[in-house]
Amino acid sequence: MRITMIGTGYVGLVSGACFAEFGAEVICVDVDRAKIDRLNRGEIPIFETGLEELVIRNRKEGRLLFQTDTMEAVSKSDLVFIAVGTPERRGDGAADLQYVFQAARDVAKGIQKFTVVVTKSTVPVGTGEKVARIIREENPDADFEMASNPEFLREGAAIEDFMNPDRVVIGVESERAAQVLKNLYRPLYRSETPILITNIATAELTKYAANAFLATKITFINQLANLCESVGADVHHVAKGMGLDRRIGSQFLQPGPGYGGSCFPKDTQALAKTAREHNQPVGIVEQVIEANRQQKERMIDKIVHALSGTVAGKQLAILGLTFKPNTDDLRDAPALTILPALLRLGAIIRAYDPEGMREAAKFLPGVELVAGPYEACKNADAVVILTEWNQFRNLQLNRLKTLLTPQADGRLVFCDLRNIYEPALMKEQGFHYICVGR
Ligand code: UGA
Repeated sequence: MRITMIGTGYVGLVSGACFAEFGAEVICVDVDRAKIDRLNRGEIPIFETGLEELVIRNRKEGRLLFQTDTMEAVSKSDLVFIAVGTPERRGDGAADLQYVFQAARDVAKGIQKFTVVVTKSTVPVGTGEKVARIIREENPDADFEMASNPEFLREGAAIEDFMNPDRVVIGVESERAAQVLKNLYRPLYRSETPILITNIATAELTKYAANAFLATKITFINQLANLCESVGADVHHVAKGMGLDRRIGSQFLQPGPGYGGSCFPKDTQALAKTAREHNQPVGIVEQVIEANRQQKERMIDKIVHALSGTVAGKQLAILGLTFKPNTDDLRDAPALTILPALLRLGAIIRAYDPEGMREAAKFLPGVELVAGPYEACKNADAVVILTEWNQFRNLQLNRLKTLLTPQADGRLVFCDLRNIYEPALMKEQGFHYICVGR
């Protein structure tokens, strides 16, 4: 089976490499020549555990190619996946589909035999139909079927999620297209992965529904965490007590500074927009978006409050900048809202992230980036954990005590916005320990 994967971003590159691992011949294409050149030199543009190995092995075995010529790749393929970016459109929150539609035009010109064209990017309901229309207009003779196959992988666990998914969702309008996709996913049958075959609109909506639900779950626990702080309850125990109910489940109930990343913020916005356009507003998702914005503000207040009401002239050590650990991705990370606000309030910020420094240098002007956690903490008035990287879970607390500057009242301020330390232990160690919902 021959596949063209258009777009070498997270989804495209991971899916392309994994399909090659399944035994398919995959051509990954991208308009970005520099990126293709790097990939052809064996350089992986993103930080994702296990990806480099997979790309190198499958390239060596000749099942994975990288090139810029879409038409040529499509002409040889049985399946074409569109996995280009669908960023949030400025102003109205809708998904910007210009790259998807451009890909559709390129695909149209390349089709030379029966081809299944699949959208893998997260696209609003109705996009599959629009892509099919573009292909028919550009190439009335094209023998193709449209399909949707949304991707549910998480950054940082992308390969594992792709190889052992909870489910595969396939949206098709014909048995012929269903057969091609079922064949492609045959290697997963052994692990008895549920494969949901449905129509294209349903598959498209399922992706948004899943992400919006997860964002809602996180936001729910964040709001409960705030309530816990007022009533003296422990949010971790509340989450555990809730999560043990199998109807609720324990995952995605970890409170923190608000969700970020390249998916939840943009997908919740896009779903709310689609729903409004169809006069079926999903008020709950609109509330989630607003509550997540407020959560980040709340974190700023927490830090200011911990420093007796002002951060002006105070030095903050920020540990973690990426939107979550095990990625170098800063897109919509809480750091991008929280740090500029603290700078505006007069704080001096020294920050460290294990993988996110290159991105941080681009997007966080005014923040001094330093080589390690202890360097960040040197003479700091407070240490703030923003991302729960493993290397921050076991900081040498005695060393920190010698590095931090005590406040006028002698307090050593430690703000743990990911709740990775135990409050009792931190108190015992002599820190003024601030966390979320405990
Ligand atoms: C998310 C979904 O989890 C994937 O299933 C989906 O495929 C992907 O979006 C996508 O649409 O492409 P991802 O954005 O990589 O994956 O990251 P998550 O692990 O879901 O985390 C998202 C954000 O929620 C992070 O900022 C994380 O810190 C936050 N979060 C997560 C919490 O604050 N609490 C939690 O309990 C879980």
